[in-house]
Order: sequence, then structure tokens, then C-alpha cells
Amino acid sequence: MRKPIIAGNWKMHKTVAEGVAFINAVKNEIVGTDVEALVCAPFTLLPSLVEAAKGTGVKIGAQNMHFEDKGAFTGEVSADMLLDIGVTHVIIGHSERRQYFAETDETVNKKVIKALAKGLVPILCCGETLEQREAGETKALCKVQIEKAFEGISAEDATKVVVAYEPIWAIGTGKTASSQDANDVISYIREVLEGIYSDEVSEEVRIQYGGSVKPSNVEEIMNESDIDGALVGGASLEPTDFVKLVNF
Ligand code: 13P
Repeated sequence: MRKPIIAGNWKMHKTVAEGVAFINAVKNEIVGTDVEALVCAPFTLLPSLVEAAKGTGVKIGAQNMHFEDKGAFTGEVSADMLLDIGVTHVIIGHSERRQYFAETDETVNKKVIKALAKGLVPILCCGETLEQREAGETKALCKVQIEKAFEGISAEDATKVVVAYEPIWAIGTGKTASSQDANDVISYIREVLEGIYSDEVSEEVRIQYGGSVKPSNVEEIMNESDIDGALVGGASLEPTDFVKLVNF
């Protein structure tokens, strides 16, 4: 059985005080659930959030990391630095990083390899633009992104990766892929994983959907057979919404 995982991606939002207040507001509402709840916050908030979330059902993740251990990489943060402060998860290859910060399939692959080697759970993002969707290229594009991201990763490590399928046209737009469409692409991603590894691996990897998920549509999305979670931007910023998302 794949454990559902609902993750908030706060992107570039919230101060430390706001982040800690959020954790304090949600922590008593997220108890005794079979759902893994995660908040991925900006670097400056992470130590305080880890502290605030200790002993609660909420885990804390980062939104990016570098693939080198250390060195002259101004402005970057390593996997060891994240582990040092108690972070457990890291988003890798979000479309906003691919679009605005020159993230490529190659750097995504290096980061996934490094995260796994260090014991961080990578949340690996893939997904197509509107243009690519309209050209019927969604599956071919996701195949390439997934095959490149998993290059050189063992079957055992592959099962630890969380994949997030996020169609770019559905991010922050209020437009959601229909739950059937999302499930169709996610089933296909499972087929791609089966092709690289095996049926067992493809059945074990958790795959989230992301793109305008909110309390009103989360249940329908989570009811789909191949969707194991959601990666949520805007609707993860309000404590009451986040609680509803986790307790879908
Ligand atoms: P929205 O939920 O705001 O559409 O953002 C989705 C996303 O990019 C999560 O990583």
C-alpha cells in the first residue's frame, strides 16, 4: 500500500513568525492520520519550522538544494546543510526552477542522486507546458523527464523517490487537470517506471498531482487509482485549508 502524501509548497512566501504560527495552528488538527503531511518552505524558515513541528504529524522539506557537497557555489545550499537542521524532504526540478533558474534534466538527475545518497526524500517534479499539451506531447515529455531524472538510480533507491506530476498550465492558474486526465498521465508515468525498473518498483513509487489543488477538489483527485498525493502551492498557505487538504 502506498502511503498518501500531501505536501505544501510555500514557494517564496512567509516570514519565520508566520511559518511558526502556521505550524502551531495545524499541528493539533493533523493527528492519527495515515496521510504523510509535509510543508516545503523557503530556506530561512526551515530551522524554526523543524523546531515547531517536532513531535507533530508535520514534516518539513526544502524547495531546492545543490548537487555538490560543498564549495564555491554562492547562494546555494547542500543536502548536508538540510540534514543538519533536520529537514527530511526536498523538492527537485519544480517547473519554476526549470523555467526561471536554468534547472535542466541533467541537474535534476544530479540532485536526485545526491538527495538519495544523503538520505533525503526527493520530490521530483515533471510536467508539460500548455503548448506541449496542445501539441499532444504530454506523455512523451514526461517520459523523457522521468527517464533522465532516474538515470543511474538503483531500483531500491527509486522506490524512495516521490514523483510530482505538475502540468505547468495548471499551476497557480485555477485550472486543474481533470482528475481522470491527471490519473491517465500518472498511470503512464508508472508505465515508464516499469520500463526502467519493474512492475514492483512502479507499484511502490508514490506519485502526486500538483496544479490548483484545493480543499474542494482534493478528494476527487485522491480517489483516483494511481494518484497518491498532492503538491499544493496557493492553497497550502492557509492553515485551515492545509488541514482540510491533509484530512481529505
Ligand atoms: P498551485 O497549487 O498554486 O497551483 O501550485 C502548484 C505547485 O506549483 C506546487 O508545487
